[in-house]
Amino acid sequence: MKTNLILLVCLVVFGVLGVCQGTGLRRKFYEKTCPCAEEIVRNGCEASVLLNSTANNTAEKDAIPNLSLAGFDVIDDVKAQVEKACPGVVSCADIVALAARDSVSFQFKRSMWNVLTGRRDGRVSLASEARANIPSPFFNFTTLEQSFASKNLTVHDLVVLSGAHTIGVGHCNLFSSRLYNFTGKGDADPSLNSTYAAFLRTKCKSLSDTTTTVEMDPNSSQNFDNDYFKILKQHKGLFLSDAALLTQKGSTNVVDELLDSKKFFKEFAQSMKRMGAIGVLTGNFRRD
Ligand code: HEM
Ligand SMILES: *[C@@H]1O[C@H](CO)[C@@H](O)[C@H](O)[C@H]1NC(C)=O
Ligand SMILES: *[C@@H]1O[C@H](CO)[C@@H](O)[C@H](O)[C@H]1NC(C)=O
Ligand SMILES: *[C@@H]1O[C@H](CO)[C@@H](O)[C@H](O)[C@H]1NC(C)=O
Ligand SMILES: *[C@@H]1O[C@H](CO)[C@@H](O)[C@H](O)[C@H]1NC(C)=O
Ligand SMILES: *[C@@H]1O[C@H](CO)[C@@H](O)[C@H](O)[C@H]1NC(C)=O
Ligand SMILES: *[C@@H]1O[C@H](CO)[C@@H](O)[C@H](O)[C@H]1NC(C)=O
Ligand SMILES: *[C@@H]1O[C@H](CO)[C@@H](O)[C@H](O)[C@H]1NC(C)=O
Ligand SMILES: *[C@@H]1O[C@H](CO)[C@@H](O)[C@H](O)[C@H]1NC(C)=O
Repeated sequence: MKTNLILLVCLVVFGVLGVCQGTGLRRKFYEKTCPCAEEIVRNGCEASVLLNSTANNTAEKDAIPNLSLAGFDVIDDVKAQVEKACPGVVSCADIVALAARDSVSFQFKRSMWNVLTGRRDGRVSLASEARANIPSPFFNFTTLEQSFASKNLTVHDLVVLSGAHTIGVGHCNLFSSRLYNFTGKGDADPSLNSTYAAFLRTKCKSLSDTTTTVEMDPNSSQNFDNDYFKILKQHKGLFLSDAALLTQKGSTNVVDELLDSKKFFKEFAQSMKRMGAIGVLTGNFRRD
Protein backbone atom coordinates (compact mmCIF):
# COMPACT_ATOMS: atom_id res chain seq x y z
CA MET A 1 0.00 0.00 0.00
CA LYS A 2 2.91 2.31 0.63
CA THR A 3 3.53 2.55 -3.08
CA ASN A 4 0.13 3.99 -3.66
CA LEU A 5 0.32 6.37 -0.75
CA ILE A 6 3.43 8.01 -2.12
CA LEU A 7 1.86 8.19 -5.53
CA LEU A 8 -1.24 9.75 -4.01
CA VAL A 9 0.80 12.63 -2.68
CA CYS A 10 2.29 13.11 -6.08
CA LEU A 11 -1.19 13.26 -7.55
CA VAL A 12 -2.44 15.62 -4.90
CA VAL A 13 0.37 17.94 -5.84
CA PHE A 14 0.26 17.60 -9.58
CA GLY A 15 -3.45 17.02 -9.90
CA VAL A 16 -4.81 19.94 -7.95
CA LEU A 17 -4.57 23.47 -9.20
CA GLY A 18 -3.08 25.66 -6.53
CA VAL A 19 -5.09 28.57 -5.26
CA CYS A 20 -3.16 29.69 -2.22
CA GLN A 21 0.50 29.47 -1.31
CA GLY A 22 1.90 27.03 1.19
CA THR A 23 2.62 29.77 3.71
CA GLY A 24 -0.07 28.74 6.17
CA LEU A 25 1.47 25.35 6.86
CA ARG A 26 3.18 24.67 10.13
CA ARG A 27 4.37 21.88 12.35
CA LYS A 28 1.88 20.25 14.69
CA PHE A 29 -1.08 22.19 13.33
CA TYR A 30 -3.40 19.77 15.13
CA GLU A 31 -1.55 19.74 18.45
CA LYS A 32 -4.42 21.40 20.29
CA THR A 33 -7.41 20.50 18.13
CA CYS A 34 -6.58 16.84 17.55
CA PRO A 35 -3.47 15.76 19.43
CA CYS A 36 -3.74 12.13 18.31
CA ALA A 37 -4.18 12.89 14.61
CA GLU A 38 -0.66 12.05 13.50
CA GLU A 39 -0.59 8.87 15.55
CA ILE A 40 -3.91 7.69 14.17
CA VAL A 41 -2.65 8.20 10.63
CA ARG A 42 0.56 6.35 11.42
CA ASN A 43 -1.40 3.36 12.79
CA GLY A 44 -4.01 2.95 10.35
CA CYS A 45 -11.03 11.76 3.05
CA GLU A 46 -11.81 14.82 1.13
CA ALA A 47 -8.64 15.82 -0.60
CA SER A 48 -9.94 16.29 -4.10
CA VAL A 49 -8.04 13.24 -5.33
CA LEU A 50 -10.22 11.16 -3.01
CA LEU A 51 -13.56 12.43 -4.27
CA ASN A 52 -15.70 10.10 -6.34
CA SER A 53 -17.05 10.85 -9.78
CA THR A 54 -20.71 11.83 -10.06
CA ALA A 55 -23.16 11.67 -12.94
CA ASN A 56 -22.02 15.18 -13.89
CA ASN A 57 -18.36 15.10 -13.17
CA THR A 58 -15.43 12.80 -13.84
CA ALA A 59 -13.22 13.10 -10.78
CA GLU A 60 -9.41 13.03 -10.61
CA LYS A 61 -9.64 9.44 -9.43
CA ASP A 62 -11.02 8.49 -12.81
CA ALA A 63 -8.55 10.38 -14.96
CA ILE A 64 -6.30 8.19 -17.09
CA PRO A 65 -3.26 8.55 -14.79
CA ASN A 66 -5.23 6.93 -11.99
CA LEU A 67 -4.34 3.57 -13.52
CA SER A 68 -2.31 2.51 -10.53
CA LEU A 69 -4.02 4.59 -7.90
CA ALA A 70 -5.35 2.17 -5.41
CA GLY A 71 -5.25 2.66 -1.67
CA PHE A 72 -8.27 4.93 -1.51
CA ASP A 73 -9.84 2.44 0.86
CA VAL A 74 -6.84 2.72 3.19
CA ILE A 75 -7.05 6.51 3.30
CA ASP A 76 -10.83 6.43 3.69
CA ASP A 77 -10.31 4.07 6.60
CA VAL A 78 -7.72 6.31 8.27
CA LYS A 79 -10.02 9.28 7.72
CA ALA A 80 -12.88 7.46 9.39
CA GLN A 81 -10.71 6.74 12.43
CA VAL A 82 -9.47 10.32 12.64
CA GLU A 83 -13.05 11.59 12.33
CA LYS A 84 -14.07 9.37 15.21
CA ALA A 85 -11.39 10.97 17.42
CA CYS A 86 -11.80 14.58 16.22
CA PRO A 87 -14.85 15.20 14.06
CA GLY A 88 -14.37 17.80 11.32
CA VAL A 89 -10.86 18.86 12.29
CA VAL A 90 -8.20 17.05 10.27
CA SER A 91 -8.06 17.51 6.50
CA CYS A 92 -7.67 14.58 4.13
CA ALA A 93 -4.90 16.46 2.32
CA ASP A 94 -2.89 16.38 5.55
CA ILE A 95 -3.73 12.73 6.07
CA VAL A 96 -2.37 11.88 2.61
CA ALA A 97 0.83 13.88 3.24
CA LEU A 98 1.36 12.21 6.61
CA ALA A 99 0.58 8.75 5.25
CA ALA A 100 3.15 9.15 2.47
CA ARG A 101 5.80 10.05 5.03
CA ASP A 102 4.82 7.16 7.28
CA SER A 103 4.71 4.60 4.47
CA VAL A 104 8.32 5.41 3.55
CA SER A 105 9.37 5.66 7.21
CA PHE A 106 7.86 2.34 8.23
CA GLN A 107 10.81 0.15 7.20
CA PHE A 108 13.29 2.47 8.92
CA LYS A 109 11.31 2.47 12.18
CA ARG A 110 11.77 6.22 12.41
CA SER A 111 10.18 9.27 10.89
CA MET A 112 12.09 10.21 7.74
CA TRP A 113 10.88 13.84 7.54
CA ASN A 114 8.61 16.33 9.25
CA VAL A 115 5.31 17.07 7.59
CA LEU A 116 3.92 20.55 7.99
CA THR A 117 0.15 20.47 8.43
CA GLY A 118 -2.78 22.83 8.03
CA ARG A 119 -3.82 22.00 4.45
CA ARG A 120 -7.44 22.58 3.61
CA ASP A 121 -9.26 20.11 1.43
CA GLY A 122 -10.34 20.70 -2.12
CA ARG A 123 -14.04 20.23 -2.68
CA VAL A 124 -13.94 20.00 -6.44
CA SER A 125 -12.30 17.10 -8.25
CA LEU A 126 -11.76 17.27 -12.01
CA ALA A 127 -10.19 14.56 -14.16
CA SER A 128 -9.17 17.27 -16.60
CA GLU A 129 -6.95 18.89 -13.96
CA ALA A 130 -5.25 15.59 -13.20
CA ARG A 131 -4.64 15.01 -16.90
CA ALA A 132 -3.26 18.52 -17.36
CA ASN A 133 -0.95 18.45 -14.35
CA ILE A 134 0.47 14.96 -14.02
CA PRO A 135 3.68 14.33 -15.96
CA SER A 136 3.45 11.54 -18.54
CA PRO A 137 5.79 8.55 -18.71
CA PHE A 138 6.32 9.55 -22.36
CA PHE A 139 7.75 12.94 -21.42
CA ASN A 140 11.30 13.83 -22.48
CA PHE A 141 13.71 15.82 -20.34
CA THR A 142 12.42 19.17 -21.61
CA THR A 143 8.78 18.44 -20.86
CA LEU A 144 9.63 16.88 -17.49
CA GLU A 145 11.64 19.93 -16.52
CA GLN A 146 8.77 22.21 -17.59
CA SER A 147 6.23 20.16 -15.69
CA PHE A 148 8.25 20.35 -12.47
CA ALA A 149 9.16 24.01 -12.99
CA SER A 150 5.46 24.85 -13.28
CA LYS A 151 5.22 23.66 -9.65
CA ASN A 152 8.42 25.43 -8.64
CA LEU A 153 10.32 22.16 -8.44
CA THR A 154 13.85 21.99 -9.81
CA VAL A 155 15.68 19.43 -11.95
CA HIS A 156 17.28 18.29 -8.70
CA ASP A 157 13.79 17.62 -7.26
CA LEU A 158 12.85 15.86 -10.50
CA VAL A 159 15.72 13.39 -10.25
CA VAL A 160 15.44 12.89 -6.50
CA LEU A 161 11.67 12.32 -6.55
CA SER A 162 11.90 9.96 -9.52
CA GLY A 163 13.73 7.73 -7.04
CA ALA A 164 10.27 6.87 -5.68
CA HIS A 165 10.15 4.47 -8.62
CA THR A 166 12.21 2.16 -6.42
CA ILE A 167 8.83 0.86 -5.32
CA GLY A 168 5.82 -0.31 -7.24
CA VAL A 169 4.99 -1.35 -10.75
CA GLY A 170 4.27 0.00 -14.22
CA HIS A 171 1.80 -1.21 -16.82
CA CYS A 172 3.29 -2.66 -20.03
CA ASN A 173 1.52 -0.29 -22.41
CA LEU A 174 3.30 2.67 -20.81
CA PHE A 175 6.69 1.48 -22.07
CA SER A 176 6.10 -1.32 -24.61
CA SER A 177 6.81 0.91 -27.60
CA ARG A 178 10.39 0.89 -26.26
CA LEU A 179 10.39 -2.89 -26.64
CA TYR A 180 8.64 -3.38 -29.97
CA ASN A 181 8.18 -0.33 -32.14
CA PHE A 182 10.26 2.59 -30.95
CA THR A 183 10.52 4.50 -34.23
CA GLY A 184 7.74 2.70 -36.07
CA LYS A 185 10.11 0.23 -37.70
CA GLY A 186 9.55 -2.68 -35.32
CA ASP A 187 12.65 -1.65 -33.40
CA ALA A 188 13.59 -1.32 -29.71
CA ASP A 189 14.74 1.85 -27.95
CA PRO A 190 18.53 1.82 -28.26
CA SER A 191 18.81 3.63 -24.93
CA LEU A 192 17.19 0.67 -23.15
CA ASN A 193 19.56 -2.08 -21.97
CA SER A 194 19.13 -4.81 -24.60
CA THR A 195 19.33 -7.70 -22.10
CA TYR A 196 16.72 -5.98 -20.01
CA ALA A 197 14.57 -5.28 -23.07
CA ALA A 198 14.66 -9.01 -23.89
CA PHE A 199 13.56 -9.78 -20.34
CA LEU A 200 10.75 -7.22 -20.54
CA ARG A 201 9.52 -8.74 -23.82
CA THR A 202 8.97 -12.01 -21.95
CA LYS A 203 6.68 -10.12 -19.56
CA CYS A 204 4.94 -7.77 -21.98
CA LYS A 205 4.18 -10.07 -24.89
CA SER A 206 2.79 -7.46 -27.30
CA LEU A 207 2.07 -3.79 -27.86
CA SER A 208 -1.56 -4.39 -27.04
CA ASP A 209 -0.94 -5.71 -23.51
CA THR A 210 -2.57 -3.15 -21.23
CA THR A 211 -2.97 -5.31 -18.14
CA THR A 212 0.40 -6.84 -17.22
CA THR A 213 2.52 -4.91 -14.75
CA VAL A 214 6.29 -5.01 -14.26
CA GLU A 215 8.19 -4.07 -11.12
CA MET A 216 10.17 -0.87 -11.59
CA ASP A 217 12.92 -2.11 -9.23
CA PRO A 218 12.88 -5.85 -9.93
CA ASN A 219 15.32 -6.61 -7.12
CA SER A 220 13.32 -5.06 -4.32
CA SER A 221 10.14 -3.43 -5.55
CA GLN A 222 8.70 -3.21 -2.04
CA ASN A 223 11.76 -1.66 -0.46
CA PHE A 224 12.51 2.00 -0.24
CA ASP A 225 16.16 2.16 -1.29
CA ASN A 226 18.31 3.88 -3.95
CA ASP A 227 18.25 0.95 -6.39
CA TYR A 228 16.35 3.14 -8.86
CA PHE A 229 19.54 5.05 -9.57
CA LYS A 230 21.71 1.93 -9.83
CA ILE A 231 19.22 0.47 -12.29
CA LEU A 232 19.05 3.71 -14.23
CA LYS A 233 22.84 3.67 -14.66
CA GLN A 234 22.52 0.21 -16.20
CA HIS A 235 20.03 1.69 -18.68
CA LYS A 236 17.17 -0.20 -17.11
CA GLY A 237 14.89 2.73 -16.39
CA LEU A 238 11.42 1.48 -17.32
CA PHE A 239 9.76 4.58 -18.74
CA LEU A 240 11.02 7.08 -21.27
CA SER A 241 10.67 9.63 -18.47
CA ASP A 242 13.14 7.60 -16.39
CA ALA A 243 15.61 7.20 -19.25
CA ALA A 244 15.26 10.94 -19.96
CA LEU A 245 17.12 11.72 -16.74
CA LEU A 246 20.31 10.44 -18.37
CA THR A 247 19.98 12.63 -21.45
CA GLN A 248 21.35 15.76 -19.75
CA LYS A 249 24.65 16.34 -18.02
CA GLY A 250 23.11 18.17 -15.06
CA SER A 251 20.53 15.51 -14.24
CA THR A 252 23.05 12.70 -14.83
CA ASN A 253 25.26 14.32 -12.20
CA VAL A 254 22.36 14.24 -9.74
CA VAL A 255 21.79 10.54 -10.55
CA ASP A 256 25.45 9.88 -9.76
CA GLU A 257 25.20 11.78 -6.51
CA LEU A 258 22.22 9.66 -5.43
CA LEU A 259 24.11 6.38 -5.87
CA ASP A 260 24.99 7.12 -2.23
CA SER A 261 21.90 5.92 -0.37
CA LYS A 262 22.41 8.17 2.66
CA LYS A 263 22.42 11.12 0.34
CA PHE A 264 19.28 9.86 -1.42
CA PHE A 265 17.30 9.47 1.82
CA LYS A 266 18.32 12.97 2.90
CA GLU A 267 17.49 14.59 -0.43
CA PHE A 268 14.24 12.65 -0.81
CA ALA A 269 13.04 13.99 2.52
CA GLN A 270 13.83 17.55 1.41
CA SER A 271 12.13 17.21 -1.95
CA MET A 272 9.04 15.55 -0.47
CA LYS A 273 8.69 18.52 1.88
CA ARG A 274 8.92 20.88 -1.07
CA MET A 275 6.41 18.85 -3.06
CA GLY A 276 4.04 18.75 -0.10
CA ALA A 277 3.92 22.55 0.07
CA ILE A 278 2.95 23.23 -3.53
CA GLY A 279 -0.35 24.86 -4.30
CA VAL A 280 -1.94 23.94 -0.99
CA LEU A 281 -5.08 25.55 0.32
CA THR A 282 -4.62 27.03 3.77
CA GLY A 283 -6.52 29.35 6.06
CA ASN A 284 -9.82 29.04 7.85
CA PHE A 285 -11.22 25.59 8.11
CA ARG A 286 -14.88 25.26 7.39
CA ARG A 287 -15.85 21.64 7.41
CA ASP A 288 -19.36 20.45 6.55
C1 HEM B 1 8.97 12.44 -12.92
C2 HEM B 1 7.73 12.30 -13.36
C3 HEM B 1 6.98 11.02 -13.12
C4 HEM B 1 6.42 10.27 -14.08
C5 HEM B 1 6.39 10.54 -15.56
C6 HEM B 1 5.83 9.13 -13.41
C7 HEM B 1 5.16 8.11 -14.04
C8 HEM B 1 4.72 6.97 -13.43
C9 HEM B 1 4.03 5.90 -14.10
C10 HEM B 1 3.64 5.90 -15.57
C11 HEM B 1 3.81 4.92 -13.20
C12 HEM B 1 3.16 3.56 -13.44
C13 HEM B 1 1.67 3.66 -13.40
C14 HEM B 1 1.07 2.34 -13.80
O1 HEM B 1 1.47 1.78 -14.81
O2 HEM B 1 0.17 1.86 -13.11
C15 HEM B 1 4.34 5.37 -11.94
C16 HEM B 1 4.29 4.65 -10.78
C17 HEM B 1 4.67 5.15 -9.57
N1 HEM B 1 5.15 6.41 -9.31
FE1 HEM B 1 5.68 7.79 -10.69
N2 HEM B 1 6.05 9.23 -12.07
C18 HEM B 1 6.74 10.38 -11.84
C19 HEM B 1 7.14 10.87 -10.62
C20 HEM B 1 6.82 10.27 -9.41
C21 HEM B 1 7.00 10.91 -8.13
C22 HEM B 1 7.47 12.35 -7.93
C23 HEM B 1 6.62 10.01 -7.20
C24 HEM B 1 6.58 10.16 -5.70
C25 HEM B 1 7.47 10.87 -5.03
C26 HEM B 1 6.22 8.80 -7.90
C27 HEM B 1 5.83 7.62 -7.28
C28 HEM B 1 5.39 6.51 -7.98
C29 HEM B 1 5.07 5.25 -7.32
C30 HEM B 1 5.20 4.93 -5.84
C31 HEM B 1 4.61 4.39 -8.32
C32 HEM B 1 4.16 2.93 -8.17
C33 HEM B 1 2.65 2.83 -8.06
C34 HEM B 1 2.19 1.39 -7.95
O3 HEM B 1 2.99 0.46 -7.81
O4 HEM B 1 0.98 1.17 -8.02
N3 HEM B 1 6.35 9.01 -9.24
N4 HEM B 1 4.88 6.62 -12.10
C1 LIG C 1 -16.24 6.59 -3.05
O1 LIG C 1 -16.91 5.41 -3.42
C2 LIG C 1 -16.53 4.26 -2.67
C3 LIG C 1 -17.26 3.03 -3.19
O2 LIG C 1 -17.77 3.20 -4.45
C4 LIG C 1 -16.86 4.48 -1.20
O3 LIG C 1 -16.45 3.36 -0.43
C5 LIG C 1 -16.12 5.72 -0.72
O4 LIG C 1 -16.48 6.00 0.62
C6 LIG C 1 -16.47 6.92 -1.59
N1 LIG C 1 -15.62 8.04 -1.19
C7 LIG C 1 -16.10 9.25 -0.92
C8 LIG C 1 -15.09 10.27 -0.51
O5 LIG C 1 -17.30 9.53 -1.01
C1 LIG D 1 -25.96 17.51 -12.43
O1 LIG D 1 -26.51 18.03 -13.60
C2 LIG D 1 -27.91 18.15 -13.53
C3 LIG D 1 -28.44 18.59 -14.92
O2 LIG D 1 -27.56 19.52 -15.51
C4 LIG D 1 -28.30 19.15 -12.42
O3 LIG D 1 -29.69 19.26 -12.32
C5 LIG D 1 -27.73 18.64 -11.10
O4 LIG D 1 -27.96 19.57 -10.09
C6 LIG D 1 -26.25 18.39 -11.23
N1 LIG D 1 -25.75 17.76 -10.00
C7 LIG D 1 -24.67 18.18 -9.38
C8 LIG D 1 -24.29 17.39 -8.16
O5 LIG D 1 -23.99 19.12 -9.77
C1 LIG E 1 -9.66 4.79 -12.93
O1 LIG E 1 -10.39 5.28 -14.04
C2 LIG E 1 -11.12 4.29 -14.72
C3 LIG E 1 -11.81 4.93 -15.93
O2 LIG E 1 -11.32 6.16 -16.28
C4 LIG E 1 -12.15 3.68 -13.77
O3 LIG E 1 -12.86 2.66 -14.45
C5 LIG E 1 -11.43 3.09 -12.57
O4 LIG E 1 -12.37 2.60 -11.64
C6 LIG E 1 -10.57 4.14 -11.90
N1 LIG E 1 -9.76 3.51 -10.86
C7 LIG E 1 -9.82 3.87 -9.56
C8 LIG E 1 -8.89 3.16 -8.65
O5 LIG E 1 -10.55 4.75 -9.15
C1 LIG F 1 10.24 16.90 -26.16
O1 LIG F 1 8.86 16.71 -26.33
C2 LIG F 1 8.21 17.86 -26.86
C3 LIG F 1 6.72 17.60 -26.83
O2 LIG F 1 6.40 16.36 -27.36
C4 LIG F 1 8.74 18.15 -28.25
O3 LIG F 1 8.12 19.29 -28.78
C5 LIG F 1 10.24 18.37 -28.17
O4 LIG F 1 10.78 18.51 -29.45
C6 LIG F 1 10.92 17.20 -27.46
N1 LIG F 1 12.30 17.57 -27.19
C7 LIG F 1 13.31 16.79 -27.50
C8 LIG F 1 14.66 17.30 -27.17
O5 LIG F 1 13.14 15.70 -28.01
C1 LIG G 1 5.92 29.38 -7.86
O1 LIG G 1 6.59 30.56 -7.42
C2 LIG G 1 6.07 31.74 -7.99
C3 LIG G 1 6.97 32.89 -7.57
O2 LIG G 1 7.24 32.82 -6.21
C4 LIG G 1 4.61 31.92 -7.52
O3 LIG G 1 4.06 33.07 -8.09
C5 LIG G 1 3.81 30.70 -7.97
O4 LIG G 1 2.49 30.78 -7.48
C6 LIG G 1 4.44 29.43 -7.45
N1 LIG G 1 3.74 28.28 -8.02
C7 LIG G 1 3.29 27.25 -7.28
C8 LIG G 1 2.57 26.18 -8.02
O5 LIG G 1 3.46 27.17 -6.09
C1 LIG H 1 4.76 0.26 -35.66
O1 LIG H 1 4.66 1.65 -35.95
C2 LIG H 1 4.35 1.89 -37.32
C3 LIG H 1 4.42 3.39 -37.56
O2 LIG H 1 3.67 4.06 -36.59
C4 LIG H 1 2.98 1.30 -37.64
O3 LIG H 1 2.68 1.53 -39.01
C5 LIG H 1 2.99 -0.19 -37.32
O4 LIG H 1 1.68 -0.70 -37.50
C6 LIG H 1 3.44 -0.42 -35.89
N1 LIG H 1 3.56 -1.83 -35.63
C7 LIG H 1 2.80 -2.49 -34.77
C8 LIG H 1 3.07 -3.93 -34.58
O5 LIG H 1 1.92 -1.93 -34.12
C1 LIG I 1 19.79 -7.20 -8.86
O1 LIG I 1 19.93 -8.62 -8.72
C2 LIG I 1 20.75 -9.19 -9.68
C3 LIG I 1 20.68 -10.71 -9.54
O2 LIG I 1 20.55 -11.08 -8.21
C4 LIG I 1 22.19 -8.64 -9.47
O3 LIG I 1 23.04 -9.21 -10.42
C5 LIG I 1 22.15 -7.13 -9.62
O4 LIG I 1 23.43 -6.58 -9.34
C6 LIG I 1 21.13 -6.51 -8.72
N1 LIG I 1 21.02 -5.12 -9.07
C7 LIG I 1 20.96 -4.14 -8.17
C8 LIG I 1 20.83 -2.77 -8.70
O5 LIG I 1 21.02 -4.34 -6.97
C1 LIG J 1 22.87 -4.13 -19.21
O1 LIG J 1 22.59 -4.92 -18.07
C2 LIG J 1 23.62 -5.83 -17.71
C3 LIG J 1 23.19 -6.64 -16.53
O2 LIG J 1 21.90 -7.14 -16.69
C4 LIG J 1 24.89 -5.08 -17.39
O3 LIG J 1 25.92 -5.99 -17.13
C5 LIG J 1 25.28 -4.19 -18.56
O4 LIG J 1 26.36 -3.39 -18.19
C6 LIG J 1 24.11 -3.30 -18.95
N1 LIG J 1 24.44 -2.56 -20.16
C7 LIG J 1 24.49 -1.24 -20.21
C8 LIG J 1 24.79 -0.63 -21.53
O5 LIG J 1 24.27 -0.53 -19.23
